[in-house]
Amino acid sequence: MGVERVQDIASATSKDTIPVEFIRSENEQPGITTVPGTVLECPIIDFSDPDEEKLLKQIFEASTDWGMYQIVNHDISNEAIAKLQAVGKEFFELPHEEKEVYAKDPNSKSVEGYGTFLQKELEGKKGWVDHLFHKIWPPSAINYCFWPKNPASYREANEEYAKNLHKVVEKLFKLLSLGLGLEVQELKKAVGGDDLVYLLKINYYPPCPRPDLALGVVAHTDMSALTILVPNDVQGLQACRDGQWYDVKYIPNALVIHIGDQMEVMSNGKFKAVLHRTTVSKDKTRISWPVFLEPPPDHIIGPHPKLVNDKENPPKYKTKKYSEYVYNKLNKIPQ
Ligand code: OGA
Ligand code: NI
Repeated sequence: MGVERVQDIASATSKDTIPVEFIRSENEQPGITTVPGTVLECPIIDFSDPDEEKLLKQIFEASTDWGMYQIVNHDISNEAIAKLQAVGKEFFELPHEEKEVYAKDPNSKSVEGYGTFLQKELEGKKGWVDHLFHKIWPPSAINYCFWPKNPASYREANEEYAKNLHKVVEKLFKLLSLGLGLEVQELKKAVGGDDLVYLLKINYYPPCPRPDLALGVVAHTDMSALTILVPNDVQGLQACRDGQWYDVKYIPNALVIHIGDQMEVMSNGKFKAVLHRTTVSKDKTRISWPVFLEPPPDHIIGPHPKLVNDKENPPKYKTKKYSEYVYNKLNKIPQ
């Protein structure tokens, strides 16, 4: 017995209704809760700006104020992104049985593999999305058994993207570290150094007859330190700003940076993990490729000792193993 995939439900569903478990409550329905006609202009940052002071300031302010921004001129070629997207799309377009070979073992602790629901939702509601998770960096952490063999170029495209992304990540951590007043390498070291795990997720959102009633991924902040995402050209990412939901502008080939929970913890609240969710489209398939930058499971994360002091700035977050943080979050246990 297998789990039902949203992709199969979508192709079996009539033109104008969706199964009841996909209908969100009114306080979540995007048709009611999205601020209409306003596309959120979260900061767009030129990552190749030779003025490092200016770049550092822009990244720092976007991380403290918004928790989400898009970087352009990041040196990952449009071609490398297009290849990553092409092979991911091809995988999801394979017949059901071929994808199920990579299905996540429900008893496994790892999130890697093809799957549908990450965590149980209250009231048994479901998101209109399937996914594939696998690590892409560091090379020693990769489990190739979760990388599709078909299409044949899947591996090459993902390795190429990972290598390119690594350079962006190194630069981003440097800038964030300096922004916080730490030494160049200190922030990266605090999240796991060269053992920092890059976990790729492909979200596959099939067309949905009632995009006004359903959500793709429900409102959340990412558990990661940072998340770096490329979407296809179908609108769907929303961010919460001052309690309201807005569409985030799609910019071709930009990398969408999300500040995740671990960065908020580490900076003792200076950086803000962004609350976000996704909507779905009536007649188009949306696909996105977030890469979650995560500490290794046993790595201990808490407010950075240099960013707290007992008097004016006591720690606002507990210190714990990353694996414990993940367990609590998935099981809705307070941190
Ligand atoms: C996620 C997520 C956003 C998107 O998978 O955590 O927030 O645009 N995805 O698909
Ligand atoms: Ni997310």
